[in-house]
Amino acid sequence: MRFDIISCQPDLLESPFNHSILKRAQQKGLVEVHIHDLRQFAINKHGQIDDYAFGGGAGMVMMIEPIDKCLAQLKAQRSYDAVIYMTPDGETLNQNKVNRFSLLQNVIILCGHYKGVDERVREHFVTHEISIGDYVLSGGELGAAVLTDAIIRILPGVLNDESSALTDSFQDGLLAPPVYTRPANYNGWTVPEILLSGDTPKIDQWRFEQAIDRTKQRRPDLLH
Ligand code: ADE
Repeated sequence: MRFDIISCQPDLLESPFNHSILKRAQQKGLVEVHIHDLRQFAINKHGQIDDYAFGGGAGMVMMIEPIDKCLAQLKAQRSYDAVIYMTPDGETLNQNKVNRFSLLQNVIILCGHYKGVDERVREHFVTHEISIGDYVLSGGELGAAVLTDAIIRILPGVLNDESSALTDSFQDGLLAPPVYTRPANYNGWTVPEILLSGDTPKIDQWRFEQAIDRTKQRRPDLLH
C-alpha cells in the first residue's frame, strides 16, 4: 500500500513514520509513505498557498491551485483509489472505515490547515472526508498520522502473530478483555485463576464474556 500525504507542515509528519511498527512496515516493503510539501506548489515566489476568505471573516483558506498542481503531479505517475481530506467536519473514523481503507492500493491524504481548503477542492478532488474525533486540531497532520497508523498496523505481515490485530478492541465489535502478565501475585493482587488453568477453551470463553461485560459497561452503543 502507498500513501502520499500532502501537507503545509511536513515536519510534523516525520516522526510518526520513523518509529517502531510504522518504520518496520516500510523497511519490510509492506507500505510506502511519501510526504509532499504543499509549499513546493505555491502560486508565487513568496510560497503563498493560502488567502483571505471571500466574503470576509477571520482565518485564511488554503487555495485550490497549489493543491490541484500537487494532485496532478501525483496522478500523472499512478492512479489513486482515494483522496482523503482530514477535516473536523468529515465522517468520524472507526475500525470499520480503517479496515475498508486498508484494502486500497494508492491513497492520497490531504491535510487541512487554517480555516480549511477552498470548497472546490472538496467538490472536485476529494473522495473521502475523515475526522478523527469531535475536537479541532491545529492541522490535519496528526489526524493523518492516526489514520495511517491504524491502517498500516492491520496490513498483512506488519504485525507478528503474537500481537495480531485480529484480537484488538473493536475488531470483533467488542472492546478487548483485560490482560495480565507475571507475577501472578503482586502485593496480594492476584490474576484471575482461570488464566492460569491452561484450559484454552475455558479461557477463550472467559475472555469473550469479559469483552461483552466491558463493552456493556463502557460502550453500550457498540452492542446495537
Ligand atoms: N483537522 C483539524 N481537526 C481535525 C480532526 N478532528 N480530525 C481530522 N482532521 C482535523
